[in-house]
Amino acid sequence: MADATSSPHSAQDAAARIRAQIDKLYREGVIHCDDGFTKSLYPTSVTPGRGRFLADLARKLAPRATLEVGMGWGLSTLHLLEGMLQAGGVHQPHVIMDPFQHSNLHGGALRAIREASAMELIEFHEVPAEIHMPKLVEQGRKFDFIFIDGDHRFDGAFVDLVFANKLLVPGGVMAVDDTELDPVYLACRFAETNWNYSFVDGHTDRTSEGAGRHRYRNARPRPQIGAWRKPTAEPERGQVHFNSFVEDFSPYIRINRLKSNRLAHEGLVALREGDREAARRLFRAALQQDPANVKNIFRYLRTYLPPGIARMLTGRSKDAAAD
Ligand SMILES: C[S@@+](CC[C@H](N)C(=O)[O-])C[C@H]1O[C@@H](n2cnc3c(N)ncnc32)[C@H](O)[C@@H]1O
Repeated sequence: MADATSSPHSAQDAAARIRAQIDKLYREGVIHCDDGFTKSLYPTSVTPGRGRFLADLARKLAPRATLEVGMGWGLSTLHLLEGMLQAGGVHQPHVIMDPFQHSNLHGGALRAIREASAMELIEFHEVPAEIHMPKLVEQGRKFDFIFIDGDHRFDGAFVDLVFANKLLVPGGVMAVDDTELDPVYLACRFAETNWNYSFVDGHTDRTSEGAGRHRYRNARPRPQIGAWRKPTAEPERGQVHFNSFVEDFSPYIRINRLKSNRLAHEGLVALREGDREAARRLFRAALQQDPANVKNIFRYLRTYLPPGIARMLTGRSKDAAAD
């Protein structure tokens, strides 16, 4: 029986068994498979920090119908089940898709879940998400929480999100792992800009080398795992085929010196006229076109200093005189 809420104790007992299994797996750092195959949990598994993020989400949202793409070694599944059980129960078997659970992963996740006595809490499909999710749409299934950690190539991630959007109830939440990666991030940005999904929360592992790397101009820092909420009302898309979501994404936008110089010139004129707000805006815009332009970085910073101090620090350069 999937619903563990028949007795609050059974839900808490099940959560404790799952927690013990999670702790054991992280402590050992390896997964043991039925065929004797043993493999390190990383880099496939969610880290303890990301797992905690998922368990907290599940605890907070207490979803009733949940779906997961990409089971890996089962750590994300175990965390989601733990969070749901602590919130009262797993009301319907948690639906999971992963075509490679036996061919690549030696059934490791299924064994970990079986050892935690949690098999009855899941509905596992050993098929690609892009094949199974359309079937769920056809069957009219709906979910209030979906976790995506499957094919991380852009086409894979994008298709997962397209079907997740169809399967989520209005106001439902979609969590996505590896959002620091360009293809995954880009798919999530599409959901924000074209479907009006709103960012709920994110997490970045403190020890990760990636934490500071994924800060793109015009964009907030990317988390490594994030959650987005589907709007409660479908956005009216009308004849608009596409809202651009690429402009503030790519670190590879070509530097536009001409535009940068023109904006910086206008900034200097604004400074000369004593309009520091306008100057600041213009230097900021110039830096967006040519981020490494040191002169413009200093010009921009100087708009925050009182004119006297700015002159003292910068000497009587051509633009200091303009202040
Ligand atoms: C990074 S792992 C998931 C790790 C898992 N969340 C965990 O915590 O252990 C990615 C998983 O996606 C699966 N996968 C790859 N392509 C897929 C597809 N088309 N549909 C569903 N799952 C897919 C892989 O087999 C792999 O198990």
